Amino acid sequence: MTNHHFKHSILSVFLMPSPSSSSSAYSLYNSYMVSNFMVSIIVPLFLFSLFVVHVSSCSQIDKLSLLAFSGNISTSPPFPSLNWSDSLDCCAWEGITCDGDLRVTHLLLPSRGLTGFISPSLTNLSSLSHLNLSHNRLSGGLQHQLFSLLSHLVVLDLSYNHLSGELPPFGIDNSGKNSSGAAIQELDLSSNFFNGTLPNSLLENLAAAAAGGSLVSLNVSNNSFIGHIPTSLFCISDRNSSSLRF
Ligand SMILES: *[C@@H]1O[C@H](CO)[C@@H](O)[C@H](O)[C@H]1NC(C)=O
Ligand SMILES: *[C@@H]1O[C@H](CO)[C@@H](O)[C@H](O)[C@H]1NC(C)=O
Ligand SMILES: *[C@@H]1O[C@H](CO)[C@@H](O)[C@H](O)[C@H]1NC(C)=O
Ligand SMILES: *[C@@H]1O[C@H](CO)[C@@H](O)[C@H](O)[C@H]1NC(C)=O
Ligand SMILES: *[C@@H]1O[C@H](CO)[C@@H](O)[C@H](O)[C@H]1NC(C)=O
Ligand SMILES: *[C@@H]1O[C@H](CO)[C@@H](O)[C@H](O)[C@H]1NC(C)=O
Ligand SMILES: *[C@@H]1O[C@H](CO)[C@@H](O)[C@H](O)[C@H]1NC(C)=O
Ligand SMILES: *[C@@H]1O[C@H](CO)[C@@H](O)[C@H](O)[C@H]1NC(C)=O
Ligand SMILES: *[C@@H]1O[C@H](CO)[C@@H](O)[C@H](O)[C@H]1NC(C)=O
Repeated sequence: MTNHHFKHSILSVFLMPSPSSSSSAYSLYNSYMVSNFMVSIIVPLFLFSLFVVHVSSCSQIDKLSLLAFSGNISTSPPFPSLNWSDSLDCCAWEGITCDGDLRVTHLLLPSRGLTGFISPSLTNLSSLSHLNLSHNRLSGGLQHQLFSLLSHLVVLDLSYNHLSGELPPFGIDNSGKNSSGAAIQELDLSSNFFNGTLPNSLLENLAAAAAGGSLVSLNVSNNSFIGHIPTSLFCISDRNSSSLRF
């Protein structure tokens, strides 16, 4: 039996015992036979197929990336540890959302008592659009590779952590190609211990995102940055009711 036939037989079983039309004894008998067949063979097959779909969800590269991420962080009391088990579908893990292709799109763990540092393995989450790790106690610097996530992130919120050091240059992704922050809408790095200047490559990309109308909120305040923000970026706060804080 091909997969196609299997699907078709499930469809017809669900359609046939419709209460409105099947009034003759023959139809009832037929429905009964079909239902019986469904219970004995199709239901187990159907449940088995659900099971197969379930255990195969969550792309393997995303799962490995998340496990490497969780391996570099821990929680401090009173927060329970992250209950991410490698035996489960990572799309069902706390803080994780996947798209229809079972790729991770959201990693949201704000105010979760996280300590440790942000693993560069997150770079491998190539469908990630929303990353919010705000209000934790994450420390260390941002890896160069990690910043390449900005090429497809829509929301990046790392505010209220203990992240430090200089921001890496931005613009070249893992494959060495020029990337752009064209998708970024909200970038919040505020209330950390970042220092140095904001890299020109980052500012150029943010200015392009602001000019293109995607960037609506940028907050890098309460760090130890030095230097100036180009006036092109200030336009985002004039044009819109969005925020810009240095
Ligand atoms: C971070 O995790 C990787 C494995 O995922 C491990 O090799 C590395 O030692 C960890 N680093 C720290 C500081 O725990
Ligand atoms: C961890 O998750 C598993 C599966 O969802 C659940 O059975 C278990 O109770 C959870 N443990 C904690 C400490 O939340
Ligand atoms: C991304 O995944 C590949 C394949 O699993 C692995 O070799 C590589 O180290 C990962 N990259 C990072 C930054 O963890
Ligand atoms: C990140 O999560 C916090 C807590 O839920 C929320 O207040 C904040 O607005 C989120 N950040 C963004 C940029 O959505
Ligand atoms: C990336 O873009 C910059 C300016 O937009 C350009 O100077 C540089 O050569 C480009 N690099 C690559 C590898 O294309
Ligand atoms: C500035 O950032 C530090 C470190 O995250 C935080 O403890 C402090 O509350 C922040 N201050 C303000 C005014 O937000
Ligand atoms: C920017 O971040 C600072 C410190 O984290 C916070 O106090 C301020 O409310 C934020 N500004 C906006 C407009 O979100
Ligand atoms: C930034 O802070 C680190 C320590 O966290 C220090 O080593 C480095 O010199 C500082 N850089 C600048 C430009 O102040
Ligand atoms: C704010 O900017 C967004 C994105 O460009 C745009 O869709 C929206 O209409 C703007 N809002 C106002 C009040 O100008």
